[in-house]
Amino acid sequence: MTTRKKPGKWKKRTLAVRAGQVRTPFQETSEALFLTSGYAYEDAEEAEARFKGEIAGYQYSRFGNPTVSIFEERMAALEGAQVGRATATGMAAVTATFMAALKTGDHVVAARAMFGSCLHVVEQILPRFGIQSTLVDGEDAAAWEKAMRPQTRMLFLETPSNPTLSIVDMKAVAKIAGKNGALLVVDNAFASPALQRPMEFGAHIVVHSSTKYIDGQGRALGGMILCDQKFLDDHLQVFLRNTGPSISPFNAWLHLKSLETLDIRMKAHCENAGRLADFLGTQRKVTRVLYPFRPDHPQHNLARAQMEGGGGVVAFEVAGGKAAAFRLANALGLIDISNNLGDTKSLITHPATTTHQKLTEEARAVLGVTPGLLRLSVGLEDGDDLCDDLEQALKVA
Ligand SMILES: Cc1ncc(COP(=O)(O)O)c(C=O)c1O
Repeated sequence: MTTRKKPGKWKKRTLAVRAGQVRTPFQETSEALFLTSGYAYEDAEEAEARFKGEIAGYQYSRFGNPTVSIFEERMAALEGAQVGRATATGMAAVTATFMAALKTGDHVVAARAMFGSCLHVVEQILPRFGIQSTLVDGEDAAAWEKAMRPQTRMLFLETPSNPTLSIVDMKAVAKIAGKNGALLVVDNAFASPALQRPMEFGAHIVVHSSTKYIDGQGRALGGMILCDQKFLDDHLQVFLRNTGPSISPFNAWLHLKSLETLDIRMKAHCENAGRLADFLGTQRKVTRVLYPFRPDHPQHNLARAQMEGGGGVVAFEVAGGKAAAFRLANALGLIDISNNLGDTKSLITHPATTTHQKLTEEARAVLGVTPGLLRLSVGLEDGDDLCDDLEQALKVA
């Protein structure tokens, strides 16, 4: 390993291209992909010293890998975190954060508007280890306060939320966490660090599904945990090293290279999504449009205070419930039906029968996941083509 450029006071677009880069003696311009499981030692003494931590160096790719390290360092620079650790998926990042930080007897408060698998971990898996939870309306600061117990160790939220794009006031929730000595963990998958940096609002830990906007092209799964050095040293490192939710170096390399275009991609996603949201708002068969940067979004001002753009996802409701939503989705000729999001390709899903199918009807109603709701992940195609596709599909909805 040779040169490492010295990051000065670089802005986020420069950090996304440059942060963390380490070059081999070949002086390659693009970051190298180290597809290796293990590392060799010059002699047995060196192996012993590396395992003791007396000298720096990699030992095994479950513990660390040079390509993965660059991805971690670049993500930490973008999120304003001290350190980052990459994982195989977003769910591995969420689960590892819970398991590393919590123990039997602890209590978690979480915003109800949460991705389905996160809800499963909180409600089904944590109780098996004696960890209780309370779900609250994330938009209601008093509800967070009221749910706190002496045993509350963690507050968990995503903003904007999946799929109804609810916005949580991170500063207010961070204050409640701080007063009670608890950790605030924010899932930043929907905004990405290009649009929102939760640590600036007081979050202690940020988790990501890098599968989404960080990859940005629907190719590979990945996740990331951003935290401070103390949480890494006291809790996370030993958990990850021994349980092994590690990312493949290949996926880390894809996501690392994708970070270089994140900022310009997010701007284009926001531009297309804002345009489609406004277009949908004019359509007779559309009864509700949810997009954080539209003035009719219930937390529009908060969204503008926390985010630099409205994001790439629009949720909307069609008159006529599930049957109309299905007719619309089936009539689309360009936009694909898919439950993934954050792709260059526009993707639509019907949350009530896919991502939120496992919830009871009452639980879906509380979250606003109505039978007519569709979630549209707006891609990077031409906005005219996307509007035309929705317009013709709405005619048969
Ligand atoms: C907000 C949010 N968090 C976490 C995840 C899980 O990520 P992954 O699919 O990479 O495990 C998702 C996936 O859709 C998500 O939308």
